[in-house]
Amino acid sequence: MQKLNVSTCVLTTFSSLRLAFSSSLRAAIVITFGIWAFPISAQSIDAQLEQGKTLMITKGCSSCHQLTKLPAAKGLVGPPLDKMASQSYIAGVLPNSRENLTKFLLDPKKFHSDTAMPTPDISEQEARHITDYLFKE
Ligand code: HEC
Repeated sequence: MQKLNVSTCVLTTFSSLRLAFSSSLRAAIVITFGIWAFPISAQSIDAQLEQGKTLMITKGCSSCHQLTKLPAAKGLVGPPLDKMASQSYIAGVLPNSRENLTKFLLDPKKFHSDTAMPTPDISEQEARHITDYLFKE
């Protein structure tokens, strides 16, 4: 009986130690992740802008539009896109905002039926990346 008590005691101490260890381990993970999370999200904004920039070339925008910050974009078929963020209207028909620019990029003909701009082959996510890139001056 005496022996059983001792081992129960040892077991209890061991499991409470384990509990203390696992909760401090959890705290360490939370702190480490917290420190990590901030620079990662700051980086991913840059990464998204970088994607917008790449899409301007890979999706053919640069062959029709001029953009000073992107020297490869020298097209003169459509208007230059340098001041997109401060322009009042998109294609002269749609009040300018991030949301509306994304919608326009997904389907320009929906807003200007006679437009010479072809419907780009892009996803909604890609349209958002391009919008962010064009809005950053
Ligand atoms: C074949 C040429 C062509 C291609 C390719 C093209 N566009 Fe256009 N884009 C135009 C033309 C032409 C207009 C003017 C449309 C209008 O006024 O209806 C225009 C208008 C725009 C506008 C509105 C500009 C303003 O001043 O209001 C934006 C923004 C735009 N295009 C972005 C893009 C992006 C981003 C891509 C690539 C995903 C792209 N365009 C691909 C020809 C093109």
